[in-house]
Amino acid sequence: MQLHSTLDDVDLTTVDPLFSPLRLNTTSVRNRFYLPAMQRGSRGYKPTAGMAETLRKTAEQGPGIIITEGAAPEHPAGYWQPAFSILGRNTADEWGHVVREVLSTGDVVLLMQLWHPGALRLVVDGIENPYPDHPAFSPSGLIQDGRTNGVAMTTQDLQDTKNAYVDSALVAQSLGAHGIELHCAHGYLLDLFLWHETNVRTDEYGGGTLAERAAYPAEIIEAIRAATGPDFIISVRFSQWKEVDYGARIAQTPDDLGPFLERMEGAGANVFHVSARRFEAPGWPDLDQRRSVAAWAKSMTDLPVITIGSVGLSTDLASDVFDNKDPLLQVEEDILRVRAGLDAGDFDMIGVGRAQISNPDFVDRVRRGDFGGMRDFRKYRDLAEAYESYSHEGQLVDQSRKID
Ligand SMILES: Cc1cc2nc3c(=O)[nH]c(=O)nc-3n(C[C@H](O)[C@H](O)[C@H](O)COP(=O)(O)O)c2cc1C
Repeated sequence: MQLHSTLDDVDLTTVDPLFSPLRLNTTSVRNRFYLPAMQRGSRGYKPTAGMAETLRKTAEQGPGIIITEGAAPEHPAGYWQPAFSILGRNTADEWGHVVREVLSTGDVVLLMQLWHPGALRLVVDGIENPYPDHPAFSPSGLIQDGRTNGVAMTTQDLQDTKNAYVDSALVAQSLGAHGIELHCAHGYLLDLFLWHETNVRTDEYGGGTLAERAAYPAEIIEAIRAATGPDFIISVRFSQWKEVDYGARIAQTPDDLGPFLERMEGAGANVFHVSARRFEAPGWPDLDQRRSVAAWAKSMTDLPVITIGSVGLSTDLASDVFDNKDPLLQVEEDILRVRAGLDAGDFDMIGVGRAQISNPDFVDRVRRGDFGGMRDFRKYRDLAEAYESYSHEGQLVDQSRKID
């Protein structure tokens, strides 16, 4: 594999793999960049017109996929703070506006992320919540080892929540989205099932292996697939790290990963989205100093694997947004690393989050090789609107976090 020394050596107009199309289920994606889900544009549990505009402007600049911000299924336990949307029949009009704006830009692929706060949901006095007395949901009532919140879900809760996920997916499909992304990452509801520390159930939804603990997310995927048909895209987002524990692992070794991917694919997943703090960080450095979790996953499945993590920036999301370490820009170097990763077959697409917030024209600039004058990312400037509208008091993630 040859790493180009500068972008001048790379022909960005003809054969650049960064701008080659990719097959995703039965849909063609125009290039290898995506905008990940980033919650920052909802009020009153609904997406704002501002969100629609921001996503449309980004889509106009060329990423292959836009993923809308995490929205919860319509169920009392999904209501956390009004800054986090619900995707259901009551919010379909506002989401419809977002979908139409994004799709009006042309051949971008639109996925809508389905997220659920799980045990991280905390109702705060003075913050509007229509279901303040409803408990938070999780597999075993745990946020992480030794920290409890809410209740362990009963069989009825599991059924109701699954049905609500299916309803959300049907709303997404009826609005014209190409698919959904099931958020199984970062320590939220479905990740709490995957993580051994928070899933200590002894029924068919728990178990000693990652593949066993994936039973509930897999059941949701199966139900969404059955309801939406074969062409609808289902992306599964997962991560080792959690907001409450940067060093956490759902897969202790690569051997845990293969059976998990197989189960999710068998249930109907079309693409795996590996959320990393740094996209190229080795997954198990003791075994292989180079291979990222995404690259390991690529070696175990024929489905596309997409990944993300601090592209263009010197610090990762957790250190930046949670620990106040402002990142420096390093776009040109990182694009070369991304290109090398694609060439090596480590992943199929790359996500750009914060750097695309501060530079909605990120993808177009990369296409043109124009890196001069890009804007750095500063959370208090670039997320000011999002920060205004939610209470940090309701964030359980800042307490007793373990460091990797
Ligand atoms: C403001 C903000 C909101 C986010 N909201 C979500 C979300 O709704 N769902 C999700 O899966 N990840 C969310 N993330 C994580 C991003 O999708 C992405 O993984 C992260 O920003 C790392 O990419 P980056 O280093 O390119 O920024 C959020 C990140 C930011 C900065």
